[in-house]
Amino acid sequence: MKEGKPSATAEANAAFRAAELMRPEDERVCHDPYAKDFLGTKFSIMGKSRLLTKIALWYAERVIPGGPNGVIARTRYIDDYLEACIDDGIAQLVILGAGYDSRAYRVDRLKGKIKVFEVDHPYTQRAKVEKVRKIFGFLPDDVVYVPIDLDKRKLSEGLFESGYDRNLKTLFIWEGTTQYLKAEAVDETLAFISNNSGEGSSIIFDYAFQSALDGTLHHEEAKKWRAAFERRGEPPTFGIEEEDIEEFLSSRGFFQVKNVTTESLEGSYFSGANQGRRVTRLGGIVHATVKPQEQT
Ligand SMILES: C[S@@+](CC[C@H](N)C(=O)[O-])C[C@H]1O[C@@H](n2cnc3c(N)ncnc32)[C@H](O)[C@@H]1O
Repeated sequence: MKEGKPSATAEANAAFRAAELMRPEDERVCHDPYAKDFLGTKFSIMGKSRLLTKIALWYAERVIPGGPNGVIARTRYIDDYLEACIDDGIAQLVILGAGYDSRAYRVDRLKGKIKVFEVDHPYTQRAKVEKVRKIFGFLPDDVVYVPIDLDKRKLSEGLFESGYDRNLKTLFIWEGTTQYLKAEAVDETLAFISNNSGEGSSIIFDYAFQSALDGTLHHEEAKKWRAAFERRGEPPTFGIEEEDIEEFLSSRGFFQVKNVTTESLEGSYFSGANQGRRVTRLGGIVHATVKPQEQT
């Protein structure tokens, strides 16, 4: 993150979701009606006209091949998982590295029923809160904003001060964020979740492959990906290999681990008119349930 500045990658993600809104309704893979309202001048052409959006996406695709589609497929997968967790009776939602995530404002089944904690780096959260005030004219009562730099402060400090209840069944969404943290911050966060959440709580997050960070996988694509994030002042710092993800989570207090490959996301979402939209092969998505205390 650049000193004093909100995350540029968070805005880029919102821009890709804004671009998706320009597709005909029956072709949209995810639907985020507020994404365009979070954009600053740099990304403001996204979602303005079909032609400008197409040009901007063509350029973004050259910078990070499969990146824009990866964000869209990931957001959709996590939306579907959230709906399943609501069916399953979650009482709290914690969104880590929330950026311009608009689930608290667009998922009706959350509103007034499930408290949402948005945790983010203070620089990004300050910008988000200003935008939310501008879009809605107020800050919703059932959204709690928790500013924490996870590389410097523990999640426990901020969440408990903000009214988080460790006995409730909770879903933790960690979208597009583990890549930018130190390994110790990822470990601390997972330890907090496995030790401080109610029965049946779960987590969903995406991760980069370590081999994409060190350049041994898809060399050219990975090189472009790293260079793009370095230019934005957010170089990727953390990765895990796909074959290690189950053991990684199991040894940190989780079970029922399900890893989702980018190939399977393409198969699920990019068919028909969306056929041919390619997702970057540099990472995956995973979800897992917190092990009951007697199993840990
Ligand atoms: C790529 S954005 C993802 C935003 C959003 N979750 C999404 O998917 O659109 C990365 C997010 O991680 C947050 N972040 C980066 N470093 C962080 C840190 N040290 N502590 C807390 N949040 C951090 C940024 O502020 C930003 O919101």
